[in-house]
Parts: sequence; structure tokens; C-alpha cells
Amino acid sequence: MDDLLKSMESLIDLSVHPLSNLSNLSAYIRFTLPDINWCGFYFLLDGVLQLGPFCGLPACIMIPLGRGVCGTAAAADQMICVPDVNLFPGHIACDANSRSELVIPVHLDGKVIGVMDIDSSVPDRFHEPEIELLTKAAERIEGSLAINRTIWAFNV
Ligand code: SME
Repeated sequence: MDDLLKSMESLIDLSVHPLSNLSNLSAYIRFTLPDINWCGFYFLLDGVLQLGPFCGLPACIMIPLGRGVCGTAAAADQMICVPDVNLFPGHIACDANSRSELVIPVHLDGKVIGVMDIDSSVPDRFHEPEIELLTKAAERIEGSLAINRTIWAFNV
């Protein structure tokens, strides 16, 4: 797990546009961790989660706060691990293959500004210590966004 975190950290370059880091981290998680079919970010713009960089099939563009797994995690400022998406009330199905999901809030200046969303085609896919690894990856992204604020007009 330490090696994976180091690899993720090495993908985050503070001198480049944040979109580049978010895109690369999405692709790395999608293709390096087993059985991941979608990984990406949603960011709050005008109080609605809007699709950011991702790797996977095209996804829904806007998710209201409190809706779906992403909107619920953002509204509650809480990581949500869903072993069976069919049992999560209001789950938004973007990829019909997704069976389980992990959503981790992303913060800036102590406020939720978005989420990192990871989907798997395998039921009950997400467990420790991988959840901790992915939480640390989200924290690294938070750190990079705090330093390089060049483009985001986060209005949370
Ligand atoms: N399943 C998410 C929607 C986003 S896609 O999985 C990419 C949700 O319920 O919020």
C-alpha cells in the first residue's frame, strides 16, 4: 500500500494545472487497482456537484447535494462505502456494471468542495487498508488544490 501511495504522490505535480493531476490520479486508480471500472471527481459549482476529471464511461454531469452516493457523501461531509449499490436508496447508476462504490469528500480550507468517486463491477469491493490508501490519495489532492488554486472558482 505504501508503494501505491508513493506512486500516486509522484503523479501529483504542484507546478501544473490541477486538472492534470486530477486526471492522472483518476486514470491511475482506474487502471492500477483491480476491478475498478470508474474513478473520478465531482466538484461543487453553484451548490451542485458537477462532473470533473474522470476515467471510465461517460457519467452524469450534475448531482444535487443530498442525491445519490456522491451528493449524500458531500452533504454529510462523510466517506461512504456502498457494498451493494442496488441497496443504496437513490443511487445514481452511471455505469450499469457498477456494483459497489466508495465516495470520499474532498476539502479546501476546511469545507467540502467535491468528492472522489470510485466504482467497481465487483460487489463489496472496498475494504481496509485500501480505503485508507484512497483516503490518503484524496488528502494529497486536497493538499495540491490548496497550493495550486489557479483555476478553480470553488463557490461552496
Ligand atoms: N453512483 C454515483 C453517481 C456517479 S457515477 O457512479 C460516476 C451516485 O450515486 O452518486
